[in-house]
Amino acid sequence: MSVITCRAPCNIAVIKYWGKRDEALILPTNDSISITIDMREMYAETTVMISQDFKEDRIWLNKKEEDIKNPRLQNCLNEIKKRSNLPGHMNDWKVRICSINSFPTAAGLASSAAGYACLTAALAKLYKVEGDISSIARSGSGSACRSVMGGFVRWYMGSDKHGADSFAKEIAPSSHWPELRALLIIVNSERKKISSTIGMRRSMETSEFLQHRIANVVPERADKMERAIIEKDFKIFAELTMKDSNQIHAVCLDTYPPCTYMNDISYSIADFVHSYNDAVDDVKVAYTYDAGPNATLYLMEEDLPAVIGALDHFFPPPEDNTVLYKRGLRIEETKPSQELLEKLKFRKHSPGQFEYTICSKVGDGPVYLKTHLLNDQGIPLFEYNKSS
Ligand code: DP6
Repeated sequence: MSVITCRAPCNIAVIKYWGKRDEALILPTNDSISITIDMREMYAETTVMISQDFKEDRIWLNKKEEDIKNPRLQNCLNEIKKRSNLPGHMNDWKVRICSINSFPTAAGLASSAAGYACLTAALAKLYKVEGDISSIARSGSGSACRSVMGGFVRWYMGSDKHGADSFAKEIAPSSHWPELRALLIIVNSERKKISSTIGMRRSMETSEFLQHRIANVVPERADKMERAIIEKDFKIFAELTMKDSNQIHAVCLDTYPPCTYMNDISYSIADFVHSYNDAVDDVKVAYTYDAGPNATLYLMEEDLPAVIGALDHFFPPPEDNTVLYKRGLRIEETKPSQELLEKLKFRKHSPGQFEYTICSKVGDGPVYLKTHLLNDQGIPLFEYNKSS
């Protein structure tokens, strides 16, 4: 019997991946760049176990038994086994996989990224795979290839039709820009209506704007973003982040039938960010949205108290305290001055527009743990629901 448990982070892209040149191999139409989010608040944890005594492969995801035949899961397993350095007979042993997320699944919160990165990192250690594993994670979910490392990560689209040169690489470690903060605003933690996979397929089929983005925008923008990160130029970083988010959501509207991920509150947060930046006559905050209504704001540590203070003023927290509203790093917010409020010219919302917020920083890549989610028989240590 052999067992490994791993914990892996989410990543939130600042140059987005939207579009595949090969669906089966999960090869993207453009490079993308992301920031790995510190694992203290958000992570996936996965135990993988193989044993000669197991009669069948099984998987549990978030306390529910799932179908092991899931094609993307099989992609990862097959890629791992191709590169396995275990003695031959051990590759035939059946596998047990148990995974949990510390945050909502499929709500546009990079849960598949953390999940497949975690699965890949765990399997890679178990099967003694050597070298880069980002392309294995990619075969589970594109954005997962950026979560097998920490800090600031670029996924190169590559040009090889088999995907040999489509992998992720660290641009800079988390220690490079330690003052950078991510404030995740959970507007709605429910499962998104149209998955990224379906949405980007539909955009590839119908959006001319996406073709323009791929050919004329991202190549130059990704290089500029990499430079902004290396030079720690927040202003350029922030502008490119917002423009790129706006562009993929414009592509989603140009898609037919359109995919709408942002809702009124998402747009209102973006308006707030622009109003705030205008009011302070600088670029202090940036927003970005994935395939869902939840916002991620990037900003510097020193600006957090003022920004959170202003956010709380215009988007007051819920009046009943049934859920922990402010998660992650503890911030002593400052009340906005009358002068700032006057300059902001922004409408105050009724309380409780956000479910909760998470304040986090740039984090590191996957880590291995000594405690496992499965017992010696390869069965979860917690109660679970049977597959339907
Ligand atoms: C909007 O990686 O979830 O978050 O490769 O089909 O699994 P698949 O898609 P996925 O897409 C993520 C899209 C995005 C942008 C990004 O993370 O770059």
